[in-house]
Amino acid sequence: MRAVVYDRYGPPDVLRLEDVERPVPKQDEVLVKIHATTVNRSDVHTREANRRSGLAVTLLSRLISGLRRPRQRILGREFAGEVEAVGAAVSEFAVGDRVFGLGGLTFGAHAEFMCMRESARIAHMPAGMSFEEAAPICDGALNALMCLKQADLRKGRRILIYGASGAIGTAGVQLARYFGADVTAVSSTKNLELVRSLGADRVIDYTKEDFTKNGQTYDVIFDAVGKHSFKRCRDSLEPGGLYLPTDGPVNILLALMPSRKGAKRVVFQLPPRQPKKDVLFLKELIEAGKFRPVIDRCYPLEDVIEATRYVETQRKVGNVVLSVNDGRDS
Ligand SMILES: NC(=O)c1ccc[n+]([C@@H]2O[C@H](COP(=O)([O-])OP(=O)(O)OC[C@H]3O[C@@H](n4cnc5c(N)ncnc54)[C@H](OP(=O)(O)O)[C@@H]3O)[C@@H](O)[C@H]2O)c1
Repeated sequence: MRAVVYDRYGPPDVLRLEDVERPVPKQDEVLVKIHATTVNRSDVHTREANRRSGLAVTLLSRLISGLRRPRQRILGREFAGEVEAVGAAVSEFAVGDRVFGLGGLTFGAHAEFMCMRESARIAHMPAGMSFEEAAPICDGALNALMCLKQADLRKGRRILIYGASGAIGTAGVQLARYFGADVTAVSSTKNLELVRSLGADRVIDYTKEDFTKNGQTYDVIFDAVGKHSFKRCRDSLEPGGLYLPTDGPVNILLALMPSRKGAKRVVFQLPPRQPKKDVLFLKELIEAGKFRPVIDRCYPLEDVIEATRYVETQRKVGNVVLSVNDGRDS
């Protein structure tokens, strides 16, 4: 099968197309013929061994994905496609089913075929969706959901979402709205209309206004793009308010520190938890018309380097999709 492989950590041009062996499903696994996948920040960070995040994070990244060179040669975590074969113990899926999901740290979706355990994050595709629409359902939304679950969002709770136009941000706005919260979304001028259309009650253009200086306060501030800090946001939180980060070693330390009852604090789900039932929840939301993944650009698998360079601009809006096998419905 064709796959995008890499044998050393480095810039996007370490990626190349190669013919590799097709995986064979184990007893409890499903073999998926992939029609669409995505390039996201996990792929980018892993490919360069998180070298921009400092020595400690780079080392940790290499311990997970291979100290000298990548243990898994194929990146890609999100997928949508058709079940090509199933192991003897599989009961939830049958050959021909249209499925989508999110793989784990073993990656493998930038390829024509990939195996997934049936108990892992794989589900039947929502009705009426194309493969390219279904591939980016999980990653941003599961990250957003994992963070927002910490915040007891409901009617009357006020949340500000910073970086509302990214993969996590566009999902976060829709989910916070679904949970009934009052949503303020922060993005640059060109993305204001989009985030408003996703359900933000009000928007702030960060190129014109600094939300930390306008005197408004929130119950929750969600930094969906890793560009803000608890320190800078603190005065914009209500007493007892929560700051939800998406990454950063400092944030993890802050989240682990004990805090006084009722104090403003950083909350981060440790260890990260993105269970299969959340994938099924997203599917339900899509079928109820309450959520849709935002797609910025779609590239053929062959153009993975170009797609990756675009993701690395940190300006993508929502998600970047790769079509595999022409992404065709068959
Ligand atoms: N997606 C993942 O795989 C993943 C997994 C775990 C953790 N994370 C972390 O989660 C965070 C977000 O990831 P993501 O994939 O959702 O990001 P993303 O999609 O790459 O975010 C891109 C968006 O961020 C906005 N942006 C860029 N600089 C900004 C700034 N200074 N202020 C406000 N907005 C800015 C851009 O909009 P404008 O052009 O309008 O500024 C763009 O639409 C990162 O910290 C990442 O490390 C990501």
